[in-house]
Amino acid sequence: MLSLSSQSFRTDPFPTYAALRRDDPVPVVQQPMTGKSWMITRYEDVASALKDPRFTTNMSRVRNAMSWMESPLLPSAFRAMRSNMLSADDPAHRRLRDLVHKAFTPRMIETLGPRIQRITDDLLDRAGSRVNYVELIEDVALPLPLTVISEMLGIPEEDRARFRKWSNAMLEVSSAGALQVVGFVPIVYRMMRYFRQLIAQRRVQPQDDLISELVRAEQDGDRLTEDEMISTIFLLLLAGHETTVNLIASGMLALLEHPDQRACLRENLDLMDSAVEELLRYGSPVEHASPRVVTEDVELHGKLMPKGDFVWLALASANRDESVFPNPDQLDITRTPNKHLAFGLGIHYCLGAPLARLEGKIALRALVERFPQMQLAVPTSQLQWRNAISVRGLKSLPVFLR
Ligand code: HEM
Repeated sequence: MLSLSSQSFRTDPFPTYAALRRDDPVPVVQQPMTGKSWMITRYEDVASALKDPRFTTNMSRVRNAMSWMESPLLPSAFRAMRSNMLSADDPAHRRLRDLVHKAFTPRMIETLGPRIQRITDDLLDRAGSRVNYVELIEDVALPLPLTVISEMLGIPEEDRARFRKWSNAMLEVSSAGALQVVGFVPIVYRMMRYFRQLIAQRRVQPQDDLISELVRAEQDGDRLTEDEMISTIFLLLLAGHETTVNLIASGMLALLEHPDQRACLRENLDLMDSAVEELLRYGSPVEHASPRVVTEDVELHGKLMPKGDFVWLALASANRDESVFPNPDQLDITRTPNKHLAFGLGIHYCLGAPLARLEGKIALRALVERFPQMQLAVPTSQLQWRNAISVRGLKSLPVFLR
């Protein structure tokens, strides 16, 4: 049985996905958090499942869902962390999404352009003024989205490094078994305590930020519980940087590995829009959507997925499906049409897509323009991928800038 956490699969899952799409499109897989589960690998099937209410992210709805996450032994703090839109079905989902949606519309995000450009320029000035050797994730790809989403929410600068440690740990929870989860309990409590304090401060002294807006929504009409507020802040912070970091870093890696495409982009910067779409398709920063549970028996390609079973929707596999994308393993920054599923589909379609696209465009353009001689500082074979099931990202990306 395929183990989704095995090191070889993490390093290069694409040949396995191709074989599965061809021979066994709905395999049984093993994963520490969800145990024995199903995986859907073909584009059309993944797209349908993303829009199908029988595949829910709300695990508490299906009583026989077998996961340590539903165990009564688990501290309630873990369940509280899931009181957000991504773990809810409509109408609760819509209520939670509407509270923050306005801040993420393409028009609102456009106004952030100059600020995102300034943060990018500062980071590159700092990186470029030091030595020639740079760790691109730590120095650029991570601080950019983390600063942007922290500023939107109102997380003070001195607390961001701490949050980074927590979010790293929380991503690893998704690859952990029931026993290992115990080690994460103090982290969850520390994080909840921190957010409670932040919310309490905003109650007394509201500011022009998203946390104050959530506090106002709570006060206006009891529309939001404190668990929901904490969980929403946590989701926005986590989704706001743990994904975009991979668009920037894996995107730059793909360009370094394809010098012709990089040269083409440098000479035609107006290809930036389609280049970012292609890098999203090619790298799939979110490898799997959040795990779904089937609310009733579902049959697909001769396999019966019984009610209560977990299902992984392999976005990274769908994005390389040869029946939709000609030469799917080839990077082609001019590819059109490019209806990738990197941001998902249906009710949970990525709320932050306009922000991620803008950050990706500004960062990659600056990197390509300012450092045309950039090269990898280690052989590709030495690059390591993170041990997280839902995001696909490098642990580090060492480069020579010139
Ligand atoms: C390249 C960067 C990004 C990628 C590839 C990405 C991908 C995704 C995907 C695939 C989903 C759907 C998950 C599912 O159906 O299970 C999603 C949902 C979500 N994303 Fe993103 N995302 C990115 C950046 C962002 C940013 C910058 C934010 C900003 C806060 C964000 C916030 C969210 C939220 C709140 C949801 C849940 C939406 C809902 O449940 O209605 N994402 N994202």
